[in-house]
Amino acid sequence: MSMICRGTQDDLARVLEIVASHPTHFVPAAYSLIESDYRQFPSYVWDEAGSVAGFIVWMSKALELELLWMAVHPQASGRGIGGQLVDAAIGEAQSQRVVLLKTASPDSQIPGTGFCGRAYRETIDFFIRRGFREACRLESYCGSQNHCVVLYRVLHDPAVAGIVERLGGGRRAGGAYRQAAGHRG
Ligand SMILES: CC(C)(COP(=O)(O)OP(=O)(O)OC[C@H]1O[C@@H](n2cnc3c(N)ncnc32)[C@H](O)[C@@H]1OP(=O)(O)O)[C@@H](O)C(=O)NCCC(=O)NCCS
Repeated sequence: MSMICRGTQDDLARVLEIVASHPTHFVPAAYSLIESDYRQFPSYVWDEAGSVAGFIVWMSKALELELLWMAVHPQASGRGIGGQLVDAAIGEAQSQRVVLLKTASPDSQIPGTGFCGRAYRETIDFFIRRGFREACRLESYCGSQNHCVVLYRVLHDPAVAGIVERLGGGRRAGGAYRQAAGHRG
């Protein structure tokens, strides 16, 4: 049986195995950051017959939800697991109005490692197909040739919601707006 569950400390070793299965995306120097964030912040894992095949870690602030780390084991990719993990994390949003994500730019380099910035083109496209947009680029954010792309998806825009209310849509139109914006909370 396959299901999404809350990640536990018992899942950490497998989560780090999944991270290590993507040497083009995660260099060993990132492992301790991922471990520290996994211990500290909430996560979901995809459990398949007792074995974790993917995970997502996020952090919530008053108005923002930030997706920190995610990966699906290559043997399990392309089956909708990543999409469902993103949906589950975003479903945790309550007062948060925007989902943020920082990821590597496709022209990033980390010399002397297996890292391949081009591989992040697919990652960025994966999020764009899920309603995210590019907010900005942070030059040399993670290292001298390692740049960052900030992606965002608006969950609840009070300005638009206000217009819907003024047009007399009331609860029904508000609900339709939230659905159109992809809000699951
Ligand atoms: C990005 C990543 C998490 C996506 O995970 P995934 O499980 O492969 O993603 P999904 O299967 O949900 O979606 C990928 C594609 O699979 C296909 N797919 C989706 N559901 C499917 C299903 N039920 N059956 C077959 N294929 C399916 C689709 O073609 C989908 O494309 P779409 O984006 O047009 O929907 C994964 O590729 C990964 O771990 N990448 C490396 C690490 C990384 O980039 N992490 C994010 C930054 S920290």
